[in-house]
Amino acid sequence: MVFDPFSEQHFNDPYDTYRRLRDEAPVYYSEKYDFYALTRHEDVAPAFKDFETFSSSRGVTLEEIQSGQHAHQPSIIWMDPPEHRRMRSLVNKVFTPRAIGKQEQVIRERITHHLAAADPDNFDVVADFSALFPVEVITTMLGVPESRRQDVRIWLELALQRPAGRSTMDKAGLQAMMDTGVLYYEIIQQRREQPADDMISALCAVEVQRDDGTATRLDDVEIAGFCTLLGAAGAETVAKLLGTAAVVFGRHPDQWQQLRADRSKIPAAVEELLRYEGPVQYDCRYTLKDVERHGVTIPAGSAVLLVGAAANRDERAFTNAEQFDINRDRTEAQNLAFGYGIHSCLGAALARSESTIALDHLLDFMPHYVVEVDKLQRVAMTSVNGYSSVPVRVVAGN
Ligand code: HEM
Repeated sequence: MVFDPFSEQHFNDPYDTYRRLRDEAPVYYSEKYDFYALTRHEDVAPAFKDFETFSSSRGVTLEEIQSGQHAHQPSIIWMDPPEHRRMRSLVNKVFTPRAIGKQEQVIRERITHHLAAADPDNFDVVADFSALFPVEVITTMLGVPESRRQDVRIWLELALQRPAGRSTMDKAGLQAMMDTGVLYYEIIQQRREQPADDMISALCAVEVQRDDGTATRLDDVEIAGFCTLLGAAGAETVAKLLGTAAVVFGRHPDQWQQLRADRSKIPAAVEELLRYEGPVQYDCRYTLKDVERHGVTIPAGSAVLLVGAAANRDERAFTNAEQFDINRDRTEAQNLAFGYGIHSCLGAALARSESTIALDHLLDFMPHYVVEVDKLQRVAMTSVNGYSSVPVRVVAGN
């Protein structure tokens, strides 16, 4: 069997392939791209936690690991302990529950703004709504001026795009990454001169303990790297989750009506959407030692895809795993959509808050709707799953 994470077929619907991988090749090896893939929950969850074997230090996408391109930029997502521990505790000081709580107002305001401008007879859930507001929220938190906030999203789309068959970034993507870096660099200089009430100013002020025991401030490259990561993680993921939400609820209108009747179920629905079809399909690791699983040895020095999205559909871990059910027992197994272990998503609380508020507003905006299935468009991106276009028609109902 073939698992090609850069193929058209993968972008369109990877779930049949995931089932076959779990059943027939729980340790899959791709000759074409030279990676291993783990897909069973019992393998993926412990691998996420075992950073001594499954290292992030060479990157977390196949491209990063195989090209070594990440090595020039320090970033929390590419660190192993003890460096990761120090950086994570530092960013936790800046990315606090209070800082996230303060965004609720911004989230509501941006959501209301975009929905007020939307036409219920001609509405694209992604292009007219979910692609627009998450980037505004995270860049507002960072301190990016309003006029540049959508630039961050457009550059990011260029950087992540992988037309089918292509596994590396093209020239436009590289240029977009440079433009993003320059924007953050300029803001960092301004905040060093004149601090404001935003995250870039806070990052300029905090100190981190270095390997030699000294404590120093973050330099421009470290702050710009962190902003790039936050901008990317904050913009793409929630946008995709909400587009998928519209498609999935379009197929399960009874569950949409359950949410309308009882809004307290929305947080559970967000968790189920994340499990059932989360925006992040897999994270890549580099093995520091040999690993034996199911009679196969993955040698030290291998790239391994930890396919959380496949593990989240594993019947061995979740009852009726292939079914979407907002009322399911969520204690059965760990939902791996936000990763697991030391690198588990730093922005999970923000993502949950944005998604919950957005669904609440969408329930009012489109209480009954049909998805124009033949016009759906999926993204072809590395690691990210979802739609770039989800046209819906709001219809009558009660
Ligand atoms: C539905 C939305 C989201 C999903 C599904 C998601 C998923 C993930 C996953 C799977 C990881 C683990 C990566 C790894 O282990 O290599 C991760 C890490 C991370 N996420 Fe998210 N994410 C989401 C939203 C966000 C948001 C809104 C932010 C910030 C604004 C964010 C910031 C981060 C950061 C900084 C890390 C790296 C943490 C570390 O390395 O310690 N994410 N996310």
